[in-house]
Amino acid sequence: MARVTILNEDRTLTSAEEITAGLAGHGIDYERWVPSHPVADNAPAEEILTAYAREIEDLKTRGGYVTADVIDVSPTTPGLDEMLAKFNREHWHDEDEVRFIIAGHGLFHIHSNTGAVLAIEVEAGDLIRVPRGTLHWFNLCADRRIRAIRLFQDTAGWTPHYTESRVDENFLPVCFSAAHFSMTT
Ligand SMILES: [Fe+2]
Repeated sequence: MARVTILNEDRTLTSAEEITAGLAGHGIDYERWVPSHPVADNAPAEEILTAYAREIEDLKTRGGYVTADVIDVSPTTPGLDEMLAKFNREHWHDEDEVRFIIAGHGLFHIHSNTGAVLAIEVEAGDLIRVPRGTLHWFNLCADRRIRAIRLFQDTAGWTPHYTESRVDENFLPVCFSAAHFSMTT
């Protein structure tokens, strides 16, 4: 289950119902997905996509997504820090950012057009959809691991546009997950 904190209200949402409703108010979709059959989190990508085929097809229909793949990031991923540095500053995309988490953790910050800043820590079973144009940034947690299904309307649109606001510098990327009670760098 994700953990959502509305930082300027110092309010934490923990139940699925609270999270779904709370995020919907800021334009963010949240769902919990259960695979059609048990699948290991280190299974080949094709097996992962098959296990969640129904949910993927449903989301493709609703969101106009045309492709799905599986991204795998671990502490041994070459160039990991350079990759992370592209996404840990406030940015937006011309494409929705859709992630279903298979393994590991991640921390999205959303800078809502209401002015609120939300921290959304995701883990296995969480689906998050950040609509195109939404200001956000992303960090890994202490495990520096995330495996996720991604859906795209057009992969060419999934390029970060930076605001250069530096608002991200006001929020420490604190994760609460996985028995680590620690901060990422
Ligand atoms: Fe992004």
